[in-house]
Amino acid sequence: MRIDIVTLFPETALAPLSESIIGRARGQQLIDIRAHQLRDWAEGKHRKTDEYLCGGGQGMLLKPEPLFAAVEELRQEHSRVLLMTPQGSPFKQADARRLSKHEHLIILCGHYEGVDHRVIDTLVDEEISIGDYVLTNGAIAAAVVSDAIIRLLPGALGDARSSEEESFTDPNMLEAPAYTKPNSFRGMDVPSVLLSGNHAAINTWKKEQAMIRTRKNRPDLLP
Ligand code: ADE
Repeated sequence: MRIDIVTLFPETALAPLSESIIGRARGQQLIDIRAHQLRDWAEGKHRKTDEYLCGGGQGMLLKPEPLFAAVEELRQEHSRVLLMTPQGSPFKQADARRLSKHEHLIILCGHYEGVDHRVIDTLVDEEISIGDYVLTNGAIAAAVVSDAIIRLLPGALGDARSSEEESFTDPNMLEAPAYTKPNSFRGMDVPSVLLSGNHAAINTWKKEQAMIRTRKNRPDLLP
């Protein structure tokens, strides 16, 4: 799989993707991920990438010309073009799974107040938001989305089960609390059922605890 990120901050996009699991996936050539400087496609002495809003309004928008030039140069036959924006549809684990099946993603990163809408109408297949808050730039969001996708590529996680059993495999339920050794720490004991060896009882406990946690932290997931 290949991912091309187009941004004013290529180092921001790649910095979180060089260590640990993702760094290893890159080393194993499971993923070819590159970040490109949008300014390299901008024209003129100042290589200007932003402009004031037509019709007035606060802030600046990314101009269409450099984004069109970037996509036209990077696009391959089966590319899917994503735009990171708080105006996008919320990114979920199911989207990570779906996008991990694509051969080539081009991720455009918004900045300032966003991008000229002709880019969205003409070039972009999906507008994606990573949450209901506004970041200073989309490169951070592109790194988040890339991480979630790359870890799902076959071979990226050593143990194939670990990506299948976690939260959001069932999109309507969080995971149960988990414990490791020591069995007793500062007077806090691991729940005895987890040490019982009774797998049916452990499963029942996990289901109950997952429900309690979901009700507390994510009631919106429950029917
Ligand atoms: N750019 C700025 N904020 C963002 C968000 N929440 N999601 C995606 N891209 C963004």
